[in-house]
Amino acid sequence: MQQKTIMDYETVRLDEENGAVVIIDQTKLPGKIELISLKTAQELWDAIYLLKVRGAPAIGVAAAYGIYVLSIQIDTEDYETFYREFVKQKEYLDSARPTAVNLSWALNRMLRVVETQREKPVFAIKEKLRQEAAAIQEEDILVCKKIGEYGLELVKPGDGILTHCNAGQLATSKYGTATAPIYLGQERGYGFRVFADETRPLLQGARLTAFELQSSGVDVTLICDNMSATVMKNGWVNAVFVGCDRVAANGDTANKIGTSVVAAVAKYYGIPVYICAPTSTIDLNTATGAEINIEQRPAEEVTEMWYQQRMAPEGVKVFNPAFDVTDHELIAGIVTEYGVARAPYTESLKEIFRKKENAGNI
Ligand code: MRU
Repeated sequence: MQQKTIMDYETVRLDEENGAVVIIDQTKLPGKIELISLKTAQELWDAIYLLKVRGAPAIGVAAAYGIYVLSIQIDTEDYETFYREFVKQKEYLDSARPTAVNLSWALNRMLRVVETQREKPVFAIKEKLRQEAAAIQEEDILVCKKIGEYGLELVKPGDGILTHCNAGQLATSKYGTATAPIYLGQERGYGFRVFADETRPLLQGARLTAFELQSSGVDVTLICDNMSATVMKNGWVNAVFVGCDRVAANGDTANKIGTSVVAAVAKYYGIPVYICAPTSTIDLNTATGAEINIEQRPAEEVTEMWYQQRMAPEGVKVFNPAFDVTDHELIAGIVTEYGVARAPYTESLKEIFRKKENAGNI
């Protein structure tokens, strides 16, 4: 019998019987695969804030199932009382992390269900909420697969691909975004050589991307963040694929801290940088990257987390932004489930949403 790998686990799932959201605790990977059940608002908020579940699409799915689980705990048949409590819980979950738009996107989708179904009894609204959360998850799988197909057209067999952070299966419901072309290429014998940046300070590249790619049999080499220029200069990288947390209307893209360094170096060496972005991560209401709220995280993540002992002097000033914005000029294309948007993004992203609307998905 084949051994179970990390790829056989669902990143997020609903445990209907126990009224809980079950996630893989990603802070324990790769050492231990531990599933945890989240039932209360505090547990859900903490899991998102502490990156037990992380990655923009996975946060959206966890929040959607999370608000459903909290809604079944609201003990009333009175719509107004239900609505007030629902909004309170929704706003609380929404405050866990500011940068990934998928969190508010998914929660707003859930809120719309409550508002449009207001004529129905509360128990029926709860059932609609369960269906909506399941739809968000199912769509995520289909969307990632589509991104994989479009992304694969941008590379050729034998190519070297560099990725930063984890925009893999662990960040989504399946396939990942930046990893989707890699997994699809793997199935089709493309023989990619992948370089995974370790991604300081929380090591999502080392702990998660290297883990899931290796478990899938992909040829992956782990590098420290400060080695990407070397592998690019050596001619080992033909394309960069990364995920994103919020894409502004002009194509400026927030993703894990360090992405913009990779993009600037790649531009210098003439290597295309592709942002893999489900439309749920594109925020046309944000005009440029300057308007994106960048999460600041605790200093301990830089000074001591993951080390056996503290590696920085006590009291030293620390700047720890979790994300940076890659200017649209550095981006060769934004790969969505409706095709690849190219500069000028102000036009091409609108066109992507027109395609989505024509497909009846808005
Ligand atoms: O802080 P994280 O681990 O949630 O950051 C994740 C990223 O930056 C990912 O690249 C992004 O969310 C896209 S996941 C498909």
